[in-house]
Formats: sequence, C-alpha cells, structure tokens
Amino acid sequence: MTHAEDAPGSSDLLVVANRLPFDLDADGAWHRSPGGLVTALEPTLRARGGAWVGWPGRPDAAPEAFDDDGLEVRPVPITADEVAAYYEGFANATLWPLYHDVVATPRFERSWWEAYRTVNERFADAAAAAAAEGATVWVQDYQLQLVPQLLRERRPDLRIGFFLHIPFPPAELFAQLPWRRPVVEGLLGADVVGFQTEGGAQNFRHVATRLTDATDDDGRLTAADGRAITVAAHPISVDASRLDETARDPDTAKRAEALRHELGDPRTVLLGVDRLDYTKGIDVRLQAFAEVLEQGRLDPAETVLVQVATPSRERVEHYAEMRDDIELTVGRINGAYAAVGRPVVHYVHQSTPREELVAFYRAADVMLVTPYRDGMNLVAKEYIACRSDGDGALVLSEFTGAADELGDGAFLVNPHDLDGVADAIVAAARQDPDEARRRMTRLHDQVLEHDVERWAAGFLDALGV
Ligand code: ADP
Ligand code: G6P
Repeated sequence: MTHAEDAPGSSDLLVVANRLPFDLDADGAWHRSPGGLVTALEPTLRARGGAWVGWPGRPDAAPEAFDDDGLEVRPVPITADEVAAYYEGFANATLWPLYHDVVATPRFERSWWEAYRTVNERFADAAAAAAAEGATVWVQDYQLQLVPQLLRERRPDLRIGFFLHIPFPPAELFAQLPWRRPVVEGLLGADVVGFQTEGGAQNFRHVATRLTDATDDDGRLTAADGRAITVAAHPISVDASRLDETARDPDTAKRAEALRHELGDPRTVLLGVDRLDYTKGIDVRLQAFAEVLEQGRLDPAETVLVQVATPSRERVEHYAEMRDDIELTVGRINGAYAAVGRPVVHYVHQSTPREELVAFYRAADVMLVTPYRDGMNLVAKEYIACRSDGDGALVLSEFTGAADELGDGAFLVNPHDLDGVADAIVAAARQDPDEARRRMTRLHDQVLEHDVERWAAGFLDALGV
C-alpha cells in the first residue's frame, strides 16, 4: 500500500460507505471487513479504479489516505463517543432493527440522532473534498442516508447515487421513526435511489410521497425542487465467476474432501455461514435441526451441522444476548446427540478465509439460510456460485431478497414456522439426486448470469455513468 499521490478533488468515481473494505487493528494492520456490502463492492470498484471513502473500523483511528493496488482509500475518523451513538446506537440499535421488520425492538434516542447527523456531515465533507468536478458518488447503506442531500448542498455538480443494502420497511413501520422526514429528505438528495427488491422500492416511493412534497410518476419521483429521482430495484450479487473458478480448483475439491473427513465422513453435512446477527435466524435453524434429530428423521451418527459465525457488533445489547443464546443451544444439542469426539454441531465463532469458505460450500450437502428478514443474503448466492458440480441444496427463507430470484430452485421456508423449517431440512437432505441436480444447475446458471458486475453496471447505467 502506498500513500495516495492524487490531490483531493481528483476522483471521478467514489464509493462512500460507513466501512472501508478493510479494518485497522490495534497493531496498525489492516484486515478484510465483515459483511455483504464489502464483499460485493470491492471487486467492482477495484475494477473501475475508484476511491472508497469510509471508516477504518476503529474508534479515533485517523490513518492517512493511501492507494491500495489502484483503489484509493480515504479514511473518515469516528470518535469513540460517536461509535457508541452513531454506529452502535442509531445505525445498529435504531435503524437496523426498524428496517428488519422490528425483529428486535428499536430504540429511539435523541442524542444518537444528533451523532448520526454529525457523522453523516463528516462523510459528506470527505466525499465533497475527494470528488472531481462532475464526478459520480455512490453512497451506500442505512448508516449514511443523510449524505445524498448533504453532498448535493456542498457539490451540486455531482451525480449522486444511493443504494440501500438492507430492506426498506413498509410505511407503517418506518413511520415509527421520529426523524422519518429528514431521513427521506436525505435520500431524496440522490439522482438514483436503489433497493434490493421491488417491494423496498415501492415502500420508499410510498413514504416519500406521503412525507414530502415529492410526486410519483411511474417509478420516477419528482422532488419539490423539480429534480427527477429514479427509484428502482437493483438486486445485488456476488463475484460469481471468481467463486466458480475457486470452487472448480482441484485444491478446493481436495480441501472439501478433507473437511468432510475431519467431520467424521458423515452422510450429510449441513452448513450455516453468517455474521452473528439476530436477523439471520441461526436460532431457528438450530432448533429445527434439534427437532429433526429428536424425531429420528436424520440420524445424529451420520449428520453434522457446521455453523460458521463471524463476530459482529458485539457491544450492541441484542447481539451479546443472542450470542449467549446460540452458544447455549449449541451446547444443549451436542449434550443430547453428540458422541465423545463427534459433535453434531460444529460452531466456529470466527471469520474464515475466502478459500476455506469456498471449500466449506463445496463440502456442504445442504446450505441453511434462514433469516427472519434480510436485504439480499449473499451467502445464498455464494453457495450456489460454488456448486458448478450441480450437487447440494439450498434451504432459503422467504424473507430474504434472494428468495425473489432463487425461490424457484431453493427449498423455501418461513423461518417463523419451525415445523416447516424442519421439513425443509429433511427434504433437502434426502432429495432425489436427479431432481437435486436439475434444481442446482438452474440456480447456478441464474447466479452466474446475474453477478455483481451486472448489478454495478446496471446501477451506474441508471445514474448515467
Ligand atoms: P450481511 O451483509 O448481513 O453480513 P450477507 O449474507 O449478504 O449478509 O453477506 C455476508 C458476507 O460475509 C458474505 O460475503 C459471506 O461470505 C461473509 N461471511 C459471513 N460469515 C463469514 C465468516 N464466518 N467468515 C468469513 N466470511 C463470512
Ligand atoms: C451488512 C450491512 C453493511 C455492513 C455489514 C457489516 O452487510 O448492510 O452496511 O457493513 O453488514 O456490518 P458492520 O456493522 O460490521 O459494518
């Protein structure tokens, strides 16, 4: 990594996101950041040679801008108090649960809102300073919803896009937010506002016309100042051909085989891969698995569930509680069904390197994706991208954005219906091999065609880039 030589104000394409693609640790080393936003955007921005404006992931850290192999990295510092109020507070204890259908109860704190505004202003200042005349600025996600308007005030010459990676909730839930109007006005500062699903886009059009003077003409909003704003669904995806290539590598096949062996050569391997987040329904898949074992529908001597869970937002109350619950449940299931040295649930509370993750995907007979609500869920698409062999099965919650595209070939479940999830696990584990291959081939083709490059090109095209 070298320090950027470009003077501020020279970037033609900028991504502005709360997180940089890498986090700074206490020793000053950078590590890949968690989550789907970074997974999706990094390859596409790198390919286009843009700048990334974001937080380095540590309170008070203020590293210099630098160039990372063609990607210009522009850190935005956030103080420890702001991390507590803006990031852990407003972003992740107010907006995150509110936008995920109130799966947990959102907290509304005025001081958090103030911090959210302050930090959004700082991001707008940083983007305004880095953007060249007439540049395109692509603002990301719920942490930065005020940035489009703040940036337009500072730099009316820019083309501004906004993409929401998480669901946009129905009007009756969004209406709970005491600051609902300034949030919508913030988003309306963009030229294009993109959502994961048509449902999210519709919800936004509805609240925008209800809460502001904007009018809706067939998906194009007109703001009070006469500006046209395109509001549309742009379902995000993964770097499918790269995953496909890694998965086809003979070393990956060997590693997948070795993993199955390390797991005791079971007949069936079930897999969950998630940030440890209460929206992901890790609890429901564990409970359903326990019931399936209890009912004797799958044999604990020949079945293994691997749950890989990246640590996430550990200082936010709901997350800490959920981690305890999940670890207790894992202990209970192993207590009841494991033999000495042969756990039925392998639980890994760590981030896993990409190549290893691909080997896990190749090793798994059934992928469990059971969120109560999820904007898209890239894990589902990653699994499918890795299954060019046509094997494997996907159990997928109806309440993910991914279900809109993959519902056809997946085992769709309602995560609130424990019996339904248990039935789907058994059906996926015991499906007819020819039928399985037909389903997976269809899914694989769909994901390879609708990859992240197509998503980015589609969004930027809507923005006129
Ligand atoms: P979210 O963005 O809410 O975390 P997604 O499923 O859309 O959910 O994206 C999660 C991303 O994080 C995927 O790219 C996935 O591979 C990665 N990921 C999740 N868990 C792990 C893990 N334990 N180790 C490494 N990467 C992980
Ligand atoms: C989801 C969000 C992203 C976020 C990621 C990781 O993907 O949509 O905006 O970056 O989770 O969460 P974190 O709070 O660690 O950034």
